[in-house]
Amino acid sequence: MPSIQTIVAVLLGAFSLGVSATSFPEQQERRNTKNGLLADSIQLTEQHVGDFSAIAFGNRASAGAETTATKPPQQRCRVFPGDSRWPPEKEWTLLNSSLDGALLQPQPAYAVCYPDHPAYDAARCLFLLHDARSTHFWLDDPLTELAQWTQGSTCLATDQTMVQGRNCTRGGFPEYVVNATVAKHVQIAVNFARNKGLRLVIKNTGHDFGGRSVGAGSLSVWVHHMKEMQYIPAYTIGSGNGSYTGMAARLGTGVEATVGGVGGWVGGGGHSVVSSTLGLGADQVLALRVVTADGRYVTADPFTNPDLFFALRGGGGGPSEPTTDAIVVRDADAFWAGVGLYYRFCGNVIEASEGGQGFSYIYPQAGGGLRLTTTSSFLNRSRDEVSRIMQPLYTSLRRARVLATADADPTTGNPSVYGASRRSGNGYQPVNTRYRSRLLPRANWADDARWNATMAAIRTATEAGYDEGFYFHGTLTSPTREVAGWPGEGNAVNPAWRENLMHAMLMDVQPDNYTSQQARDRDARMQRYTGLLRDVSPGAGAYINEADPGEPNWQQAFFGSDNYARLLQVKRTWDPWSLFWAPTTVGSEGWRVEAVDGYPNSQNGRLCRSD
Ligand SMILES: *[C@@H]1O[C@H](CO)[C@@H](O)[C@H](O)[C@H]1NC(C)=O
Ligand SMILES: *[C@@H]1O[C@H](CO)[C@@H](O)[C@H](O)[C@H]1NC(C)=O
Ligand SMILES: *[C@@H]1O[C@H](CO)[C@@H](O)[C@H](O)[C@H]1NC(C)=O
Ligand SMILES: *[C@@H]1O[C@H](CO)[C@@H](O)[C@H](O)[C@H]1NC(C)=O
Ligand SMILES: *[C@@H]1O[C@H](CO)[C@@H](O)[C@H](O)[C@H]1NC(C)=O
Ligand SMILES: *[C@@H]1O[C@H](CO)[C@@H](O)[C@H](O)[C@H]1NC(C)=O
Ligand SMILES: *[C@@H]1O[C@H](CO)[C@@H](O)[C@H](O)[C@H]1NC(C)=O
Repeated sequence: MPSIQTIVAVLLGAFSLGVSATSFPEQQERRNTKNGLLADSIQLTEQHVGDFSAIAFGNRASAGAETTATKPPQQRCRVFPGDSRWPPEKEWTLLNSSLDGALLQPQPAYAVCYPDHPAYDAARCLFLLHDARSTHFWLDDPLTELAQWTQGSTCLATDQTMVQGRNCTRGGFPEYVVNATVAKHVQIAVNFARNKGLRLVIKNTGHDFGGRSVGAGSLSVWVHHMKEMQYIPAYTIGSGNGSYTGMAARLGTGVEATVGGVGGWVGGGGHSVVSSTLGLGADQVLALRVVTADGRYVTADPFTNPDLFFALRGGGGGPSEPTTDAIVVRDADAFWAGVGLYYRFCGNVIEASEGGQGFSYIYPQAGGGLRLTTTSSFLNRSRDEVSRIMQPLYTSLRRARVLATADADPTTGNPSVYGASRRSGNGYQPVNTRYRSRLLPRANWADDARWNATMAAIRTATEAGYDEGFYFHGTLTSPTREVAGWPGEGNAVNPAWRENLMHAMLMDVQPDNYTSQQARDRDARMQRYTGLLRDVSPGAGAYINEADPGEPNWQQAFFGSDNYARLLQVKRTWDPWSLFWAPTTVGSEGWRVEAVDGYPNSQNGRLCRSD
């Protein structure tokens, strides 16, 4: 297997599947502390806890007893600011000391745009509105997750906010943030939230369009600054049959690509330009170091806590030679014929046999019309090889009298082939996009009738975007079991990924100032358009990291039914407190957010038991 892509991930603050492990098997301690990361080496001890019982470790075995014996009735909701049980100021101060001063209480960034807000600063506001996107500002903000609706749209980012007499409130943004740089910080935050009955949120470093890294009244663990990296030329794990020896890297969970490379990206599966050759992010993990719900820092690998290792990989780019195309034609049927040729070619050739990736958008254009733009990328291929791979597509487009015009090479008339490119990490700013996702399986490419039905569904859904203002986004990859790395089988990747040729998305860009009624009406319509894609792919799934948290039957769609049953067992074993909670994560159905604003799936409200 191509070992260069294999990583040892140091993941601090796992998503919804946390755990306890009261003892560390010694042999694996030896393996992991040797030349480990600094973040790894500074851990919470009983000595640090001292007599500050609010940060004491939990005991998974007695978790049930704890809640019934020592805390009279089970709390219906997580403790919220203003409640009598909300920790008093002096306790937050103690917490801050135990964290070496890493506790933040940040304001929503756009507060500076609201004249009635204490943080009002007109110059700063102008910077945010016009210049911040060309800097790293938004990725470095401790609260922003780049999707405004998840937070309840209570502190909007538009010029209008300055003139409409609106207010800016914290809404679904966390109350406090731990700016974690070492394992100890994460452990303290986890213990404090659990012991105090608070809502805990984990925020990594990139974008999140599902509302999984915000939450009203919560304590957030922000791991953005855990950016250590270590290359290991020769790494061995296991022995004899079933062992791995090869190159590896240790990565802090905040390492960016622009999403957190070993945070939710890996946890949710993680697709990339190399998925057709090397599998998903979750396929590349050799071992994980995670903080579990009892506050312990444990290893999960195929030999140690294997159930956790299974669950954390999926139960959550390399060098390439891209070529960029755009199809512009005047006639709608001809346009869709061209799109169909491209997508079918892409599925059959680029991904399945040549190990590439197709990345496409279909945008409605002002004045009517649609525009398809695509980038096809290949790992480790020369320009000439890319031209050879793509030539049959260009030939068939010409034969169908559909031209691929953008950036044409003057000699061949084909789209030009560019050298390796990298995304800069800038250009990010808060938006109001909701993702709708469907993983379209290989079977849809196999015969003409299914293919025609697939394209008809894509066309109908995409053309509705004219009036509704959404667009289509298709990424084509083929992350089969065969290309997954060591240890191969046995992670919790959504089985729909193994059959996938196209991750089809409706990118639902809603106006910032939508009322909650408008948002609910829009949601009902979007469910119908997404339903067209579901109808042509019965039994398939959706990609949790780029999906709608309102996805019907999300347990099956995001995890697969068999995996879900097993994941739920692992979750209950390791996190009997349901401390790690985020929408549509494993076990999350036991709780729900009582949103105060009526926006679908908003995190702006108390987290309460759903029974
Ligand atoms: C935590 O302590 C640091 C260092 O003393 C201080 O700068 C920071 O404001 C404190 N955080 C809060 C929320 O009070
Ligand atoms: C803003 O807050 C003030 C004071 O709480 C309140 O009177 C006013 O109605 C609010 N305005 C809006 C637009 O919500
Ligand atoms: C968080 O911690 C990092 C590392 O210590 C520091 O560079 C950064 O300024 C902190 N961020 C905030 C918002 O305090
Ligand atoms: C190694 O494991 C594979 C797969 O489990 C098995 O087929 C093979 O017989 C094993 N080889 C040895 C030498 O044990
Ligand atoms: C890239 O291609 C060359 C030549 O075909 C090959 O020797 C090399 O192993 C490939 N590298 C990777 C990472 O696949
Ligand atoms: C699929 O669509 C093409 C183009 O419209 C058409 O020629 C073909 O007959 C259709 N095939 C089936 C099986 O429906
Ligand atoms: C939202 O903003 C648009 C202009 O951008 C305006 O026409 C519309 O009336 C606003 N809607 C609400 C509910 O404020």
